[in-house]
Amino acid sequence: MKITILTLFPEMFTGVFGASMIKRAQEIGAVEFQLVDFRDYATNKHRHVDDYAFGGGAGMVLSVEPIHRALLAIEGSDQAMKILLTPQGVPFVQAEANRLAQCEHLLLICGHYEGFDERIRSLVDGEMSIGDYVLTGGELAAMVIADSVVRLLPGVLGSPDSAPHDSFYEGLLEHPQYTRPAEYLGMKVPDVLLGGNHAEIEKWRREQSLKRTVERRPDLLKKPVKKN
Ligand code: 6GU
Repeated sequence: MKITILTLFPEMFTGVFGASMIKRAQEIGAVEFQLVDFRDYATNKHRHVDDYAFGGGAGMVLSVEPIHRALLAIEGSDQAMKILLTPQGVPFVQAEANRLAQCEHLLLICGHYEGFDERIRSLVDGEMSIGDYVLTGGELAAMVIADSVVRLLPGVLGSPDSAPHDSFYEGLLEHPQYTRPAEYLGMKVPDVLLGGNHAEIEKWRREQSLKRTVERRPDLLKKPVKKN
């Protein structure tokens, strides 16, 4: 998969993309990142990519032209899944990550300032938000989305069946987990996990998963399970 990110702050991505699973994913060739500073596509000599809002009001608005020119310059952008990152977008949930992981080329556009010229919306396939709070720009959202998508790509996680056990994968939170020691400061690992009866263990995990979801996120149980 190729992930292109349009941003005014490409340097924000170096730490996150240069470590852990995302780094490994690039090393094994599962993903290739392309960071594009769309200020390079500004047409004025001051390299401004924003301007005052028609009709007045405080705050600057991101101009359509630099984004459009950047898209025209990016190879294959017409075939890419182009997503604008904005708090007005559809909520980014696991089902969206599963869907985006099927794309060959994902292109994420990070805004800044008070908003986008509305005509930028006509250049993309969709809009996404990572939650009901306001960020200073789309960069952190792009990192969140890239991380959750990349870990789903074949070969990225250690074990091919890690992802199916994740929280949210079947619309439920994950069951409790334990590792050694079997007892710590009087806190014991449940007997069933030490017993080696795989059918019993599976049953316990399903029950715990359901119990945890009822207690912590009953809202998840009201939603239809949607994997893609
Ligand atoms: Cl995608 N962008 C910004 N600026 N703020 C957000 C967001 C995105 N998602 C939640 N808040």
